[in-house]
Amino acid sequence: MEKILDMISAKMAEAFAAAGYDASFGRVTVSNRPDLCQYQCNGALAAAKQYKCAPIQIANAVAEKLDARDFSKIEAVMPGFLNLNLSDSFLQEYLEAMRTAPDFGVEKLGAGQTAIVDYGGPNVAKPLHIGHLRSAIIGESLKRLYKFFGYNTIGDIHLGDWGLQMGLIIAELQQRQPELCYFDPDYTGEYPVEPPFTISQLEEIYPAAAAKKKEDEAFAEKAHTATFELQNGRRGYRAIWQHIMNVSVSDLKKNYNNLNVGFESWLGESDADPYIPAMVADLKDRGLAVQSEGAWVIPVAEETDKKEIPPCILVKSDGSAIYATTDLATMVQRMEDFRPDKMLYITDKRQSLHFEQVFRAAKKSGIVPAETTLEHLGFGTMNGADGKPFKTRDGGVMRLEQLISDMTDFVRTKVVENQIVAADEVEETTKKIAMAALKYGDLSNQPTKDYVFDMDRFAAFEGNTGPYILYTVVRIKSILAKYGSWEHLPIQPAANEYAKDLMLAITKLAPNLETALRTSSPNVICAYIYELAGCVNKFYHETRILSEENAALQQGYIALIALAKNILETCIDLLGFSAPEKM
Ligand code: ARG
Repeated sequence: MEKILDMISAKMAEAFAAAGYDASFGRVTVSNRPDLCQYQCNGALAAAKQYKCAPIQIANAVAEKLDARDFSKIEAVMPGFLNLNLSDSFLQEYLEAMRTAPDFGVEKLGAGQTAIVDYGGPNVAKPLHIGHLRSAIIGESLKRLYKFFGYNTIGDIHLGDWGLQMGLIIAELQQRQPELCYFDPDYTGEYPVEPPFTISQLEEIYPAAAAKKKEDEAFAEKAHTATFELQNGRRGYRAIWQHIMNVSVSDLKKNYNNLNVGFESWLGESDADPYIPAMVADLKDRGLAVQSEGAWVIPVAEETDKKEIPPCILVKSDGSAIYATTDLATMVQRMEDFRPDKMLYITDKRQSLHFEQVFRAAKKSGIVPAETTLEHLGFGTMNGADGKPFKTRDGGVMRLEQLISDMTDFVRTKVVENQIVAADEVEETTKKIAMAALKYGDLSNQPTKDYVFDMDRFAAFEGNTGPYILYTVVRIKSILAKYGSWEHLPIQPAANEYAKDLMLAITKLAPNLETALRTSSPNVICAYIYELAGCVNKFYHETRILSEENAALQQGYIALIALAKNILETCIDLLGFSAPEKM
């Protein structure tokens, strides 16, 4: 469906042409004086310069040519503005078209295209901490937005499963249990199916090993060797690696599930490993990789750089692959498997330089063709009330599970105190509200900015919060349930000014979703639904809906709030949460 502004602009352009002026002057914008009109066109002012006459003369002539059935107000005002209000019938027809079209008539901009969204990015064997929250929440939302716009979308978790942390665990395990068959180089039998550790043991082993590495040089050396041997295929180490993966991945799945975050692809750095040798050989052959201090690097600096961009390191002097190597090899793999039109990476913004280097290397070498878009969305930090990165009370790194359970406990108290639902529904309702509080609290900020985690504010039922949006949806649901069957009711002309404001807000769905997509900004969706929810609540307070005696009028009210509810529910689904039945 055409966006409403484009439709009005087209009508305006026709009117300019019909009055004898260039159609390109007929661009309409949303009014910056909503007290005067809904839309405006300033084209006559620009046209006046070209046609050397008074702007008001042009505005008047154009106003004459506009179709009065489309507008309830067409006003040419000094010095030459055109002020417009849509007619009730125009607005009604537009909303009815939205109501009956699939996905409210939002154009499928991504049809036929493939997008890979690389987010989450946890490192196996390390517990998820709050640093992983933003990538998961923002990535999930953007992935859903890509899907909504019709892209063939693949969310890839890109596990950190190939680095030193694996060698550290192996080395630590060897010190603790040297008798295990995995460490016996002469062992040729099958390795046990049962892992030699549980997830909680694993979560203890890793930090212990990481701490030891700092103090004990010999141990650090062992861990490096173990990493190297693992990557080069030592059987026993591969078997331990597989155990670490199995134990860790099922735990990760559980945690992401709790967050309502899901991935289509569970590949990791290790899956890119087989692509490395050929890729490196090719880059060397073509002279794109050069030697520098024993390492192989791809120079990526460009003349126009304002700051120095160091070369992208491909192979370290000890022959090992690093983060950039696996990222490039992953691109080789993704081009082979999917030939995506777009790859979007969501990480902390401190990784900006890494992605700048990798993207340049990928384009320069042709690993990624010119027509494929590469984008890194670097997000800011989640801070505590003191403005510093969020910590536990004793100053430690907070685990993601802990943060979620703190928020859940906080919300549960409210749900119980306010007797919102029956005892057996408390958990389900609490979970939904807590998820909305957490996700909306994060997503309503521009991703690149830091924000302060404020449980009280995020979980409030009033104000610009997730629970407020849920509350609005629940309110409409309860009216609809009391009313009865509503699904077939058509949109009617606005019955009062609050209905009109709500209708106008509804028409802004498509442009807002497009902006959110184009600028990777879920916060645009949040701002939109906050405005929409405000219009719904205003309308609800000023209009007797269920007690309206005129059945036809009432049907119009119901159809309108039902459409608003469906839009709100679609939008919160794009943000990654959903509304409970009662609140
Ligand atoms: N595992 C990485 C980290 O913890 C994030 C991975 C992001 N994705 C990527 N393709 N590099 O920092």
